Amino acid sequence: MDYNHLVTAAKSAMEHAYAKYSKFKVGAALLTKSGKVYTGCNIENSSYGATICAERVAFSKAISEGEQEIEAIAVVSSSGDYTYPCGICRQFMSEWGTDLKLIFENGKDTKVYTLKELLPEAFTKF
Ligand code: THU
Repeated sequence: MDYNHLVTAAKSAMEHAYAKYSKFKVGAALLTKSGKVYTGCNIENSSYGATICAERVAFSKAISEGEQEIEAIAVVSSSGDYTYPCGICRQFMSEWGTDLKLIFENGKDTKVYTLKELLPEAFTKF
């Protein structure tokens, strides 16, 4: 499957990043199994720990709109390098399954992983 449109949407979302403290802008675009796209950017806070990553913003938008079946998420950043999700985001996203595909782009090439690969032996309560 071609995820170029997701990478493009993630780059547009990155323009809205509120990265006042780190200056590290991140954009994400999530694809539902029904074909809808939800985007997110990182939103920082002067109380640093209250910062929300782009991935969790995209997931929160999708889930709060009633989505439950998530197929893929593309992540880009202003760093010029691949940007992989933090541990909190990996755990957060695993709630909706570890078959999720993650697409990373460094401005030139793309890499695709499953969440299972990035979060082996994920904690689940049930
Ligand atoms: N960040 C994300 O939004 N997603 C990632 O995958 C990695 C980190 C954000 C959090 C913070 O605003 C900034 O990048 C620097 O850590």
